Amino acid sequence: MAPVFRNRVTEMLGIDIPIVQAPMGWIARAQLASAVSNAGGLGIIETSSGELDNVKAEIAKMHDLTDKPFGVNIAQAFVRDPGIVDFVIDQCVKFVTTSAGNPMKYTSLLKDAGLTVFHVVPTLHGALKAIEAGVDGLVVEGGEGGGFKNPRDVALMVLLPLIRSKVDVPIIAAGGMVDGPTMAAALALGAEGVQMGTRMVSAAESPVHDNWKQAILDAAETDTVFLNRHTSPALRALRTNRSEALEHDTETNAMTALIGSTLDLYFGGDMEASLALSGQVAGRIDSVEPVADIISACAADCLQVLADLAERYPN
Ligand SMILES: Cc1cc2nc3c(=O)[nH]c(=O)nc-3n(C[C@H](O)[C@H](O)[C@H](O)COP(=O)(O)O)c2cc1C
Repeated sequence: MAPVFRNRVTEMLGIDIPIVQAPMGWIARAQLASAVSNAGGLGIIETSSGELDNVKAEIAKMHDLTDKPFGVNIAQAFVRDPGIVDFVIDQCVKFVTTSAGNPMKYTSLLKDAGLTVFHVVPTLHGALKAIEAGVDGLVVEGGEGGGFKNPRDVALMVLLPLIRSKVDVPIIAAGGMVDGPTMAAALALGAEGVQMGTRMVSAAESPVHDNWKQAILDAAETDTVFLNRHTSPALRALRTNRSEALEHDTETNAMTALIGSTLDLYFGGDMEASLALSGQVAGRIDSVEPVADIISACAADCLQVLADLAERYPN
């Protein structure tokens, strides 16, 4: 597979298949991330849990479980530890995504230490700011995706080609990425890689409780809610009694429903204990698959779609 997808993302990240597993608090740890890296994609270890001692142990595990590259995410709004940059540099990783914060804050420190830095952006304005900060690339994240979002959400179909038309750096597309056709569409719109969140939550190696995986399998495309549009951070989660009650509530900050009892949902399986951050693409996921199968099928089907299109519409 190696030469087939060769582009700036595979070159910069040192991977064969430009599929990146999303950073996700408590979930994006060694069990999941090593499976992704070993399958030829890029596993990413989270820091948004704020549990830096545990994260450090997970990164040590990564060095045992894979000899392939992997990355770390700094979710700036959630990790306010002033030592976070030194912490990441000390872990001997080469690739970092920064998200949920000002790209001016850490980019030059990380780049001076020799790391490749991609910043996650939900708008063109954010993309231009990240370019000004000197990032190597962007993760362009559409509002259909799971997790924390810009309150003024923009679908990837609009955002990705818009940003592509204004910047030259490599782009990883996030939001709705799940299979070969979505990956091929992202490449057509100017991305050189894709990032998967919800698909990876529901993967066999994902550590979350089976109730969450089953809820993703059961979900229709309309079964997520967008919360906190009135404040920040906004977030997208599966529809449950609890999340639906918050959907039109402009008094309550939905973060109060997330924090505190997060792990009772994530690992205890109580779907009403917290918010099950997930994207609209839950409506397209019908089975729990091993990461290696997800990645190999996605890569092969993407190439097939591109080949079919070239044959059908020869120039
Ligand atoms: C459970 C969950 C937790 C997330 N946590 C983070 C995070 O810590 N940092 C971050 O940059 N993005 C986070 N995200 C967003 C993902 O990185 C990714 O961009 C998004 O899931 C892509 O959309 P998709 O869910 O349609 O694949 C999270 C997403 C989910 C589903």
